[in-house]
Amino acid sequence: MPVIKDHTLAPTPPMGWNSWNRFRCYGLSEEVVLGTADAMVESGMLAAGYDYLVIDDCWQDLERGADGELRSNPERFPRGMKWLGEQIHARGLKFGLYLSPGRKTCAMIYDQYPARELGSFGHEEQDIETLVSWGVDYLKYDWCQANRGGTGLTYAGAFEHMATVIAGAGRPIVMSISEYGKSKPWTWAGDYGHMWRTTGDIGASWGSVMRLVDRQHGLAPFAGPGGWNDPDMLEVGNDGLSAIESRSHFMLWAMLAAPLMAGNDIREMDASTVQLLTHPGILGVSQDALGRQGERILRTGKVDVWRRELSDGVAIGVLNRGRKPIELSIADGALIHDGKTLAALPDDARDVWTGAPATGSLSLRPREMVLLRGT
Ligand code: GLA
Repeated sequence: MPVIKDHTLAPTPPMGWNSWNRFRCYGLSEEVVLGTADAMVESGMLAAGYDYLVIDDCWQDLERGADGELRSNPERFPRGMKWLGEQIHARGLKFGLYLSPGRKTCAMIYDQYPARELGSFGHEEQDIETLVSWGVDYLKYDWCQANRGGTGLTYAGAFEHMATVIAGAGRPIVMSISEYGKSKPWTWAGDYGHMWRTTGDIGASWGSVMRLVDRQHGLAPFAGPGGWNDPDMLEVGNDGLSAIESRSHFMLWAMLAAPLMAGNDIREMDASTVQLLTHPGILGVSQDALGRQGERILRTGKVDVWRRELSDGVAIGVLNRGRKPIELSIADGALIHDGKTLAALPDDARDVWTGAPATGSLSLRPREMVLLRGT
């Protein structure tokens, strides 16, 4: 297979914000997007590295125009996408937008979005021309039963086609491939896109986070600079996860070298959410230049142990999946639980969250994770 994507675009896992998890279909508007763009700057999110602002499904008008071109929804985006893209760029952010390869977008199928023929089937070149004319820098290309309706599309074929169109578009565009892990995209998507979903949709619950995490096992070898496994967007800051659960969710995404697409309302986030999403230690693990995805190296009882190789050392994570607190101790370069060695630990290891040296003992509350890092 020819490698046709621009490999330079995602040297580390992409970071940004996406409208879907919080605003879904009908909550999406120009006001939300503009307010989010401002808040990404004011909150420090942009400075921390969240530079893509991605508008997901339901930005479109209900029908294509007379020449078959996609248009933005005139009620919810009265000033149009070109104008909005300029506003996003003026704030130093990059602009992402959503398309689907078949006849329908997912919201037409699952959210009763009362639209017609919004899918890009037969409009691939035209839709990319439209997006390029609006200054789009990132495409989320979302499968949505694209093989239905007589399209004859296959998973890899649809994304290869779009990668070819993007390669000829004259503008660097990150492609986020979304087919929910259906066709083992990690085996082919690296030729075409910069990230690929490995699972179905996340929900704002601990059960969902754990289900998705467990489906990442064994995928690490397929990720690296230029192309990343994507266990879906973040639920940090959304109702449904406690502060401890949110922190563990975020740490796991960092260990997984996952794209970090915030999915909360940036305009109204509380101080603890900002602190978590912009935490330099966790982001340092996420964005490590070596680009090696971490893995779960041990599961013992309710304790999962993670390891990620870093450019200057290693990160070790321990997650307490159980309902009771657990105790860990550090002795002779090892991390120990219940008399059992969980992992070797460098002498200079520090707690990534607190910055404190990792010594003595520590306890983890239910669903709490600790990240340690050393050289
Ligand atoms: C699918 C995707 C989601 C979101 C919606 C939009 O469910 O997996 O991330 O893009 O479609 O309709």
